[in-house]
Amino acid sequence: MLLQVLGTAAGGGLPQWNCACPGCAGARAHPERRRRHASLALRADEGSWYLVNATPDLGEQIEGCRELWPGPGPRDTPLAGVVLTDAELDHTLGIARLREADGFEILATPPVRTALLGLIRLGDTLGPYTRVTWRELGGKPQPLTAGGTVEIQAVPVSAKRPRYAAGTGEDDPAWVVALRLRETATGRTLVYAPALAAWTEEFQYAVEDADRVIVDGTFWDDDEPVRTGISAKTATGMGHLPITGPHGTAGRLAALRARCLYTHLNNTNPLTDPDAPQHAVLAGQGLGVAADRMVIEL
Ligand code: MLT
Ligand code: MN
Ligand code: ZN
Repeated sequence: MLLQVLGTAAGGGLPQWNCACPGCAGARAHPERRRRHASLALRADEGSWYLVNATPDLGEQIEGCRELWPGPGPRDTPLAGVVLTDAELDHTLGIARLREADGFEILATPPVRTALLGLIRLGDTLGPYTRVTWRELGGKPQPLTAGGTVEIQAVPVSAKRPRYAAGTGEDDPAWVVALRLRETATGRTLVYAPALAAWTEEFQYAVEDADRVIVDGTFWDDDEPVRTGISAKTATGMGHLPITGPHGTAGRLAALRARCLYTHLNNTNPLTDPDAPQHAVLAGQGLGVAADRMVIEL
């Protein structure tokens, strides 16, 4: 299984266009600290790739990943589709940038699909431009492509819906899912969970035997969004388990056999500064932070 990390920032990116917080100012002063919105490129098959989430940075992310470049024909593309972990805007706004394609596939859970079709009206909007084929992302492992060796499975992690969908639809734990990706030939497994509201039994089961886990590192601690003045809600209240503290993910991850990395860093997270002492705290637990353009071969 071959993946490339296309971005590791939470909604807004690093820097965020309207933010002068120390993290964003630091990224303006030190371009190597910039992070694009959290996303992965996943090779399904020889010459066939999927994006995991479609961010507002999608165009630049494709240009930054040689395997996703078009050719040899003028409009040939290796990009077959997009897999969505949720319906949040930072993970879906990029879909409209794919409208130049002849067609592409979107794998999504039922509540995510319903929100995008009914509330954002993505089907009506894109219909005149391109052909979108929807496929249900379910809780049972399914082959990502016919004849391919990557299996994909959604693990529901939260009923938290996007703000634009507040008060609509059913309460459904599949509003936000983690993805379990398995190479059938080798059994090697990666779990990707850029948003994790609760460490459920199902999630524990999904990560227990994984080789790689890339997980929600939005906030360092629960109070961070309130302390930094970006929200009246705590991290957990925003649907993101913090890294440290009583509900922190670090202790749970450190107990796994997998190599574990954090992604979806908010610009308030001290880990956005490579010199922050928090990096040593993570390293002491055998954990780290994913980097943009990191290549993962499993
Ligand atoms: C989140 O991860 O909580 C959402 O993406 C927030 C947002 O970007 O609006
Ligand atoms: Mn987000
Ligand atoms: Zn900021």
